[in-house]
Order: sequence, then C-alpha cells, then structure tokens
Amino acid sequence: MNARKIILVLFIASAFAFAARVKLDVAKDFETIARQLTNSLKTHTDVTRFPRSTKPDGSLHAVPSRDWTSGFYAGNLWYMYDYSKDKKWEEAARQWTAGLENEKFNTHTHDLGFILFCSFGNGYRLTQDPAYKDILLQGARSLSKRFNPKTGTIRSWDHGKWQYPVIIDNMMNLELLFWATAMSGDSSFYKIAVTHANTTLKNHFRADNSSYHVVDYDTLTGKVIARVTHQGYADESAWARGQAWGLYGYTTTYRATKDKRYLEQAEKIAAFILHHPNLPKDKIPYWDYNAQIPNEERDVSAAAITASALLELGGYAKNGEPYRKAAEEILINLSTPQYLAKVGTNNNFILMHSVGHKPAKSEIDVPIIYADYYYIEGLLRYDRLKKKK
Ligand code: GLY
Repeated sequence: MNARKIILVLFIASAFAFAARVKLDVAKDFETIARQLTNSLKTHTDVTRFPRSTKPDGSLHAVPSRDWTSGFYAGNLWYMYDYSKDKKWEEAARQWTAGLENEKFNTHTHDLGFILFCSFGNGYRLTQDPAYKDILLQGARSLSKRFNPKTGTIRSWDHGKWQYPVIIDNMMNLELLFWATAMSGDSSFYKIAVTHANTTLKNHFRADNSSYHVVDYDTLTGKVIARVTHQGYADESAWARGQAWGLYGYTTTYRATKDKRYLEQAEKIAAFILHHPNLPKDKIPYWDYNAQIPNEERDVSAAAITASALLELGGYAKNGEPYRKAAEEILINLSTPQYLAKVGTNNNFILMHSVGHKPAKSEIDVPIIYADYYYIEGLLRYDRLKKKK
C-alpha cells in the first residue's frame, strides 16, 4: 500500500470510529449501569450506610442517612426500575429507601429535597405508595421550618462561620416544596419556594449570570452580609457544580410555576456554561470555571447535572434544540471509557472523575454518587425524548 492509500484507510477508519462514538446508545449504557448496580447490591449490603464515594485508601465511602447524599443510591435503583420495569429493582429500591425515613423530621439541613425527593419522591412517582406520600409531606414541613421571612430564604446550613448561609445548591430542594403544595393543596410550601427563588435571583447572581456559592444574610435586617465561596476556587469564581445546581433549580422552578423570569434565568445560566471559554471541547467542565485551568480536575458531576437540566430546559425554551444537542454531547462523552467506569471497577460507581470539595482537599477526582444519579436521569430523559419523536 502506498502512503496515500494508508492515509485514506486511516481516514476512513477514524471516521467510522467517530461515527460509532457520536451515537448515544441508551440501552447499552443501561446495561452497564444495571451490571454495576447489581455488583454493588451484592458487595454492599448494609442498608443503613449509603454509598457516596471512594475514600483516599480506595475503599467505599458510605454515609449515614443524615448525609446530604444519602438519597441518591436509592434514586439510582428507582431509575433502574423506571427504565426496566423489572420488579427486582423496585424491591432493591424499597430496601434502600426505607432507611431514610427518619430524615423526614430532620430540621437541621436544607438538603431534605436531595435526601427524600430522590428516594421517596421517585418511589412515590413510580408506585403511588401512600406511605411515601406521608413521609414526603412531613419532610416538606420540616424543610419549611428553615424558612425565614425576614431574609426571604430557607437557611442552608447550621454549621460554619456565617450568620445565615444560603447556597445556590438550595434551589434543588424547592422541588419537594412545589410537590407538597400540589399534593396537599397547602399553598404555604409553594409560597416559601417562590420567595426563596426570587430572593436567590436577586442576590446570588453576578452580571455575567454566574452565581456565588454562599450568600450570608443578616437575620435582623434581612440584608446580604457577604457573598463568598465554600467549595469553589475563590469568592469571585464560578464553581462548576454551583452553576449546574442553579441551572437545574431554575428549570424546575419554571416547571412548577410557569413564571417566565425563571425560564429566562435558566437560559442565562445555560449560556454562561455553554459559551464559557474555559469549558473544554467535550463539555465536561473543570471543577471551577476560574481555577488554574488546564491544570485542574474535571467535575463529571457538574456535567451530569447540566445534561439532565438541559434536556428539560430544551422542552420549555423557544429554541430548545441547542440545549438538547449540548446535553446529548455531554451524555455521549460521559458514556465513553474516559468517564464511564469498566464494570467491576470504581467501587461499582458508574462514572469516574468528580470533585466534591477541592478547597477542603476532599473527594478530588473520585466517583461520586450524585454524578451517577443525574447521568442516569439524563439518559432516561433522553430516551423518553427519542421515543416521543
Ligand atoms: N450540595 C453540596 C455539593 O454540591 O457539594
């Protein structure tokens, strides 16, 4: 073969390889997910310790129900049931959901949405189990207790050096409140959620539509004391997961209210993310858009949350196609060996390469359960869109 022929053969081969990679194969990805989850159910059987991540020594990091990530593992199992309709997944999901019930009385965190809605919320959506509904409503009552009319927000944390910290992540816990009003007819949950979303809209965003991580409020005046970071690179930087939480949170808030201001905000955040000069070609962001790029870790969790949110946003926006395309691209890339773990590895988590809290030197470049959750959710949303067409 002469040189020209070799080049032609190489060109055709790489074109084929590219074509094979650019298609999202949801069925194949769910096969991988099912195998990883099956392995994890076999190797990790203590249903009071919830898989979260990997420890520095390489072993599984499992957490008690009060941890903010405790509901995602059950959520993954519920999504597996959602996709497959196989009762074995429902049974497993129920087992891993039961141990979270006590958190319905937890008034010490804003994370009840994550803990209860990913587990019991998905469970209720799929089974209409009335016991799950009661648990969720109690959870919404507990979360509402953290609302302060003076600041117009739900308090995020009870720990730390702040007077009344509210983090952008808090937008993710509003879905439980919207759901509670829809289920109970009690509008107080809805009002709290809308007030929180409005205050956050006013105080959390910069002129470029990126968000601060933490806004600290004065409880006597209701005014902002400080805008800082906790998990990001710097106070004025754009922590990648925070931008993803904001995008997802305002998309959900638009779904619940149909108030155009939330849709506009979600689109502004999407523009910030998707047009950011530091967003890599494969659209899997570094853990902070303003860190020492390119010498930084990627955060796969931020990518997975973004993909899932963009798929929903695409259904509301006037021009939804670019959002759907970007989400598809992210999911395709997450489904490559660069990010998707080989079956039997990665402590049976599905995705590799997330960052939890780099400034605290915690969970850097590890698998994290919520990356898996939003990846699976994104695949499900993508699958539904394709089947609708
Ligand atoms: N909600 C905490 C985090 O995103 O790490």
